[in-house]
Amino acid sequence: MSVPAGTQQDFLSVDVNYMMADFLGGTQGISALDLQRAQALIDKAGQRMQQKRSEMVWRELPYSQTAVVEQILAYAAQAKGQFENFVVLGIGGSGLGPTAVHQALNHPYYNELSAAQRAGFPRFYVVDNIDPERFAGLLDVINPATTLFNVITKSGSTSETMAQFLIIREMLRQRLGTDYAAHIVATTDQTKGNLIAIACEEGYKTFFVPDGVGGRFSELCPVGLLPAAMTGVDIKQLLAGAAAMDEWLSNCRTWDSNPAYLRAVLQYLAIGKGKNISVMMPYSEALKYFADWYAQLWAESLGKRVDLAGNEVFAGQTPVKALGVTDQHSQVQLFTEGPFDKVVNFLAVGEFKQEVAIPSAFGTIPGVAFLGGHTLNELMQAERRATEFALLKAGRLNNTIMLPEVNAYTLGQLIYLLEVETAMAGELLGIDAFDQPGVEAGKNATYGLMGRPGYEQNKQAVDQEAPKLTKYILQR
Ligand code: PA5
Repeated sequence: MSVPAGTQQDFLSVDVNYMMADFLGGTQGISALDLQRAQALIDKAGQRMQQKRSEMVWRELPYSQTAVVEQILAYAAQAKGQFENFVVLGIGGSGLGPTAVHQALNHPYYNELSAAQRAGFPRFYVVDNIDPERFAGLLDVINPATTLFNVITKSGSTSETMAQFLIIREMLRQRLGTDYAAHIVATTDQTKGNLIAIACEEGYKTFFVPDGVGGRFSELCPVGLLPAAMTGVDIKQLLAGAAAMDEWLSNCRTWDSNPAYLRAVLQYLAIGKGKNISVMMPYSEALKYFADWYAQLWAESLGKRVDLAGNEVFAGQTPVKALGVTDQHSQVQLFTEGPFDKVVNFLAVGEFKQEVAIPSAFGTIPGVAFLGGHTLNELMQAERRATEFALLKAGRLNNTIMLPEVNAYTLGQLIYLLEVETAMAGELLGIDAFDQPGVEAGKNATYGLMGRPGYEQNKQAVDQEAPKLTKYILQR
């Protein structure tokens, strides 16, 4: 696989050896011949990707956000000294990306650090649920008078986010009087939706989600960049990493040169072999929430009832989140011996930011003493290799994306790689990876049940559903 010259050390790598029949045999594994035959499909799907590139506005984000980045950095610098806490209110793509990047690039106990240890940057919270206990609980630990709330909703109308916004706005109004607007920054569409109208009327600072960028593809615009900048993440490097990945992917069209196409076509071929589950398993706590971000990207993009021609296809591959090494003592038993229905995607890290030595002790107990003199880093790598090997021996497809280290540059690459892989998988499956009609039925029923004008029929439909049968409800 060719990598842009001179940058190998900074680049993630994609290792698909253990997806292949060379190691797994022909029943489970994918042969080089399968890949060669699939090149015609890749060519066609790749051409469609090229033709649609101007519609895929998210693909230009590494380049189109330059001016916005300066505005974000200026705003973040000014807000830094003013606020102790920064709270994201957003759900789906508006919450998962900010969470993933924060966990990846900031201190693992960031909020517990002193202000000086955080270099003056505010504490960071993402509220992506409306659970009343958790929401009320947040208000027990932050002082609204020293908190900046970032309401993120592309559509400007998502019930969960708007409900959170209404609660916070009222609380700020009561506590701070007319100054409350300075505690709210809105990230939304520039013209459409309710939030932009409210923001303009009330004078909130605003940042915009570019037209045509869907929620789950929005991490590299202000949706993700503002929260990242508020904790000191180098957002220019994040975008530079994405741009470098784009350069790699845009110049390579074959399975053995383009890692996004290779991963997409392997998943596509694996689905054909009944692998209906895609496990994302980082061997790194920093990348733990990256698995959540991937789960939304993969599930919402590919899970579709109909193909582009309108035929019912019920496409998709169920993403499962796992964490190395924690899940070795939980889900790995199933991955190794359960149904042959999974692809396990490992995220590996070459160099961790810390090295922790394991002291030597208990020389007379060999089963303990062998650990001494090693490091947690070595143990982590050994366990990852051991799991990869165990899966291989059990005939289970697995692959590894290796980040030389987790930093803004490599993370930008990873985000962009998986976004292009997802779009390519959508093309191979012949579905629209950018809509989410399956979410609408539940949304509309909620609107109806909550009394939103215009949705009365949705309420009626729920109310008129045949009553549940008591014989299927057990109660003591
Ligand atoms: O990917 C998507 O488009 C969705 O998951 C959205 O991110 C999610 O529904 C939130 O939407 P919004 O940002 O409009 O509030």
